[in-house]
Order: sequence, then C-alpha cells, then structure tokens
Amino acid sequence: MNLRDLKQQAQQDLASVHNSQELENWRIKYLGRKSSLSLFFDNLKDLPLEEKKEKGKEANEIRQFLKTIYTQKKQELEQSQAQGQYFDVTRPGLKIEKGHLHPLTLVLREIVHSFEKLGFEIVLGPEIETEYYNFDALRIPKNHPARDLWDTFWLTSGLLLRTHTSPVQIHYMEKHEPPFRIIVPGKCFRFEATDNHHDIQFHQVEGLMVSEKITLANFKFIVQEVLDDLFKGQVDLSFRPSYFPFVTSGLEVFIRPKNKSHSQWLEVMGAGMVHPDLFKTVGYPPNLWQGFAFGLGVERITMIKYGIDDIRLFFNSDLRFLEQF
Ligand code: PHE
Repeated sequence: MNLRDLKQQAQQDLASVHNSQELENWRIKYLGRKSSLSLFFDNLKDLPLEEKKEKGKEANEIRQFLKTIYTQKKQELEQSQAQGQYFDVTRPGLKIEKGHLHPLTLVLREIVHSFEKLGFEIVLGPEIETEYYNFDALRIPKNHPARDLWDTFWLTSGLLLRTHTSPVQIHYMEKHEPPFRIIVPGKCFRFEATDNHHDIQFHQVEGLMVSEKITLANFKFIVQEVLDDLFKGQVDLSFRPSYFPFVTSGLEVFIRPKNKSHSQWLEVMGAGMVHPDLFKTVGYPPNLWQGFAFGLGVERITMIKYGIDDIRLFFNSDLRFLEQF
C-alpha cells in the first residue's frame, strides 16, 4: 500500500471507532509493531540513499499525523464518556473501594454482644461530666491524692471530660432500683503523656451488677465467660489486688494470650465490690444490696486480639492500618 492511501484508510477507519477497544485495535493496526507503516520503515534500509531520505521523511510525517489523530480521538472518547453521552461497555470497570468498620467498633460490638448474652442491658452516659459525678460521688473528693490517678481535661465552665465511665454508675442508680445488670460502653479522656499503651482518649465498658447476693465469684464467672467468648478461650486471666475509692476489695484483671505465655500480662480492667457509700449516696436503704462494678479497657482488648503494639494507631487515621480490618 502506498503511503498516501494508508493515511486515507487510517483516517476513514478512525471515523468509525466508537469505543476504547476499537481504538486500541486501530492503534495496533496502524501504529503497532506489525503495522504496514512499521514494515515500511523496516524496508527503508534497502532503498538507495536519496529515496531513503525522501520516503523516510514522508513516512515520519504520516506516523506523526497518525499519532496526533489517535490522541485526539482518545480524548474525544474520554470526554464524551465523561459527559455521559454514551456508555463504553468495553472499558474496564472502576474498582469499588469498600468501607471498613474501625477495629474498635468491631471489638466493641463483640463485647456488647457477649454481655447481652448474659442478660446485661446497654446504658449510655454523657462524655461531659460534673466534678460531682466524675469524682465526689465516687468517693474521690478534692485534694484527695486518688484524684491524681485521673489526670483531667477541665472545661472552662467547671465541667470536665469524663476520665472514666464510672460516673454512669451514679446516674443509673439514682434512677433505678436493683436488681439490675448493665454495661456502659463509652469514650473517656485523660490529660496525660501518651505512649504505646496510653492515649488521651480511649474507650471503656463499665459494668455494674447489683442484687441481693452478688459476690466477687459472680464477677469472676462473668469476666471469664466474656473473655473466653472474645478470645475463643485462648487467654489466661490473672486477678490482682488494687485500689479504687469507689469499690471495696478493688482488683485489676490482667490477660495474656495462651500461645504467648512468655509475654507480659496486660491490664485490661479495674473492678471490685461497689462501695456501700455509693448506695447511700444514691439513696438506697443500708445493707440491702450488694454488687460488683468493673471498667474494661476496649483498646487494650483490641490490641491483644489483633496483635497491635501501639494504642496511638487507633486514632491517627492511617488508612494503611485501618484497611487491614
Ligand atoms: N473507673 C476505673 C478506671 O477507670 C475502673 C473501675 C471501674 C474500677 C469500676 C473499679 C470499678 O480506672
């Protein structure tokens, strides 16, 4: 085929191209490695010098021309597609990114579900608290050294960001008579230095079960049940004495994965028997009720469950982290 015919033919063909697949076929036919134009270039070397120069120049111009109309057509197709003028069924689809639930949401849901199976009711409380509910009613008066356990974000109005979910114990008992068993999932805040196990915001699940004859044995059973459920029986628990002003016989629960028995125990909750003063504060008659309370650290549980080594990853919005769940 002579070069001029080739040019005409290519233009004609291009006019009937309607989608990206056809365009690609066109490109292969006229600009591809096996196109007649490429063959023409291959054969140039056998021509005498003068002719080589002349034909070579012409072929180059045609190639340039074909490339230009190819690019134009491509843009045209893309544009009309973008404007929705027609739908190119041959175009590869766009990958649809699916959203992810945050790892804390996943674990929080599991925790809540485990407690629901044991008959616990879900209760919520405010994240902004008064000094009374966050501290005084929980036997942590001003100037009491125990306040240092909870470094506090104070708001200008004298209010504060709750440092734990325990104030909801008081809110709930003010309005409800035992027997009851509740959990309170929620966000807490502490004004303290961060490290890989401490952040200024985190989640707790408070638990409160009050009835006539509740003991620490009930607490142990329930905690064992829930943690077994969460970790499919794959963690060991350790109960160690501790101090919280709002409980008697305060303790902390530590856990450790069974398959990592050499690793460190991680503290995941504080607990104890509800201090009788709290019952008095909310107006219950003396010596009638007893109960246990606990505060479970959701981040800590999630870290063990998924092998995450830095609590600060939860809130820094790094997609490379979040997309793994
Ligand atoms: N509120 C305590 C904390 O944040 C945990 C706790 C809750 C301890 C209930 C005992 C009973 O550290």
